Amino acid sequence: MIQNIRGFRDILPEDTKLWQKIEKIASELFKDFGFKEIRIPIIEKSDLFVRSIGQTTDIVEKEMYTFEDRKGDKLTLRPEATASIVRSYIQYKMYAVNPIKKLYTIGPMFRRERPQKGRFRQFYQINAEVFGISSPYIDAQLILMLNEFFKRLGIRELNAHINSLGCFDCRPVFQKVLKKFLGSKKDMLCSNCKTRMQENPLRTLDCKALSCKKALYDAPSILNLLCDECSNHFNTVKETLDKQNINYIVDKNLVRGLDYYSRTAFEIHTNLLGAQSAVAGGGRYDALIKELGGPEIPAIGFAIGFDRLAEILAEMGALGQTTKIQGPDIFIISIGKKSLETGYFLSVELNLQKIKTEINFDKKSLKSLMKKADKLNATYVLIIGHKNLETNGFILRNMNTKEQITISRENTVKEILEHLK
Ligand code: HAM
Repeated sequence: MIQNIRGFRDILPEDTKLWQKIEKIASELFKDFGFKEIRIPIIEKSDLFVRSIGQTTDIVEKEMYTFEDRKGDKLTLRPEATASIVRSYIQYKMYAVNPIKKLYTIGPMFRRERPQKGRFRQFYQINAEVFGISSPYIDAQLILMLNEFFKRLGIRELNAHINSLGCFDCRPVFQKVLKKFLGSKKDMLCSNCKTRMQENPLRTLDCKALSCKKALYDAPSILNLLCDECSNHFNTVKETLDKQNINYIVDKNLVRGLDYYSRTAFEIHTNLLGAQSAVAGGGRYDALIKELGGPEIPAIGFAIGFDRLAEILAEMGALGQTTKIQGPDIFIISIGKKSLETGYFLSVELNLQKIKTEINFDKKSLKSLMKKADKLNATYVLIIGHKNLETNGFILRNMNTKEQITISRENTVKEILEHLK
């Protein structure tokens, strides 16, 4: 038997209702805040991700699904959506008339990480990006939107962590100071960080190895070395969040796993999912559009981990675990070949009138089919038997009240619709 690939899973029918609910709440929230949906390809040229996410990140070094197609082009299954949305923004010159664009997308991403609770190789993200606004108010607004999204879903126990990663003026100063500090702790660093500390010292702050975490506990803080502009920007973000009563924790070691960020970076954490505690992450990436060949336009965005969110909600019993699965409006019971044909045409006609139906295609006794209707949690059964065909009438039975009426053969759909109103 062929099974799915490790880290790739099916979202089964009993779970998709929850996924649809999350999607609906997300789309409504985005609409409320003026976002429009964009849909982007699942595969892009590898270079797009290497250049945006950064050569020395875990994603690019170890996790991308990269392959050559039949013509030898190097392609990658998207590990995230931001790079593709930026590519599209530049490619279609979305900045031409008005550079301000608010876009969102929901879909699967692919990273070859070690699968565990809350971590998959195909996972889904709800992704939002804002182009063309450099004001710190928009940074606070995105954090507020995340807050509101979780509130609408009824999730409360979350912590927002925020930091500033500075800009291309002040970050090099911090990198120098950090390198010096790392030099003094070199023995404690993992082999990966020993190499990374030269080219990309900030990455060491993100390392999950326990020895590195210990070594970096009292690492210098970038917040002490921000230039005036970055410092003012970060202060306004914090003040705005304070005024909006949004709780947050300033986390000086928060650097995010992608290299394109500058200034504000944030993550939303939960303690409901063990080690995989981040349910959302994002930040400003003011240099990326230019870096990928577009004009100098600021940008900021976030992505929510759909799978992790669904897991939290399932654990919370968000849909009320005791509620029965919704059954068909009408279970059509047809007894005999002739009545099956009548039942089949009737069921389609009812479907076209937005009435959910189920029908038995196999021959069974009335008793066992009534039992099946019960099991399916049908609201009504419509019985089409030999006798009923002869008398030109069908029986419509309410499964809750046990009340029955006769429906005429000529006006079946009309009479059913009237009765169900
Ligand atoms: P990220 O932090 O890499 O950011 O991913 C965002 C969220 O996706 C994480 O917080 C997590 O909930 C979820 N996630 C990541 N990897 C996995 C996985 N293997 N299994 C399950 N869930 C996962 C980004 O991807 C950025 N593009 C966010 C962004 C948008 N920044 C600016 N705009």
